[in-house]
Amino acid sequence: EKDRIFITRKIPEHLLEPYTDMFDFSMWENEEEPVPKDVLFQEAEQADGLICMVSEKVDKALIEHGKRLKVIANVAVGYDNIDVEEATKRGIIVTNTPDVLTETTADLGFALLMATARRIIEANKFIAENRWREWGPFLLAGADIHHKTIGIVGMGRIGEAIARRANGFSMSVLYHNRSRRPEAEKYIGAQYVSFEELLERSDFVVSVVPYSKESHEMFDKQAFAKMKKSAIFINISRGGVVDEQALYDALKNKEIAAAGLDVFAKEPIGSDSPFMALDNCVCLPHIGSASVETREKMITLALENVKGTLCGEGPLTPVK
Ligand code: GLV
Ligand code: GLV
Repeated sequence: EKDRIFITRKIPEHLLEPYTDMFDFSMWENEEEPVPKDVLFQEAEQADGLICMVSEKVDKALIEHGKRLKVIANVAVGYDNIDVEEATKRGIIVTNTPDVLTETTADLGFALLMATARRIIEANKFIAENRWREWGPFLLAGADIHHKTIGIVGMGRIGEAIARRANGFSMSVLYHNRSRRPEAEKYIGAQYVSFEELLERSDFVVSVVPYSKESHEMFDKQAFAKMKKSAIFINISRGGVVDEQALYDALKNKEIAAAGLDVFAKEPIGSDSPFMALDNCVCLPHIGSASVETREKMITLALENVKGTLCGEGPLTPVK
């Protein structure tokens, strides 16, 4: 009998094809809507492997329920949606999808930074609302990006890829990370500084830090108060690293200039989100790694991790 794999979202059939001799797949047949909790529990009970997305909370209760589970393959680099400790205790392998999404996510980080600094969304809306009457010297004038200082919080693979892009814009690169990264300092010319110094000196503060107990709401009222009044805050990691009330207040009261957010403490947000009412905030629906090429690579890597775990050679990219 073939091992049974449940996939929590509809993914393209052609990506599964190479694996259908090996596995029986079942899949939640909806691309936009996440799987309901009762279906997820039912499916997990029967499954030897689970392929899941950041939208699924794989908590203790679900893991306990998945008595046959041997592998949980997240289609994401971050895995704060999974109780890894509980899985590990039960001998279940947890895998993520690093590397394949690094450059794509860095692209989006830079796109968000540029859109925010140069008020791209506001400018498009300006025309959509038919408000363009005349050219104006300061019409929709934003902030420069080139030759400014970028501060990267979390110097992992994605942080480095952002730093390389920043080099192309002749920016000065500061970074803060739990551990120093001498190779990155050397080949990118990034300067290691304390979190406080990074906040004080950066024109752009970019969060790429994984979510954990330690990073929980590290961008709080005090952090925003330390930033320049002209600072632009970009978050492409996880919403939980931000005290959102403090960020909202800082934007509303112009204590910082603007923010670009791809992630939120509680997703999805809607048009009623307070952030959506601010002109100086650009919001995106968690699309950091969302290029067709990269999403296909992430799904294939998750499948390879399942195959490696269940068919002997071991997973390619287990977490930790
Ligand atoms: C997406 O947020 C990821 O962690 O890959
Ligand atoms: C995050 O873990 C990264 O790859 O930067």
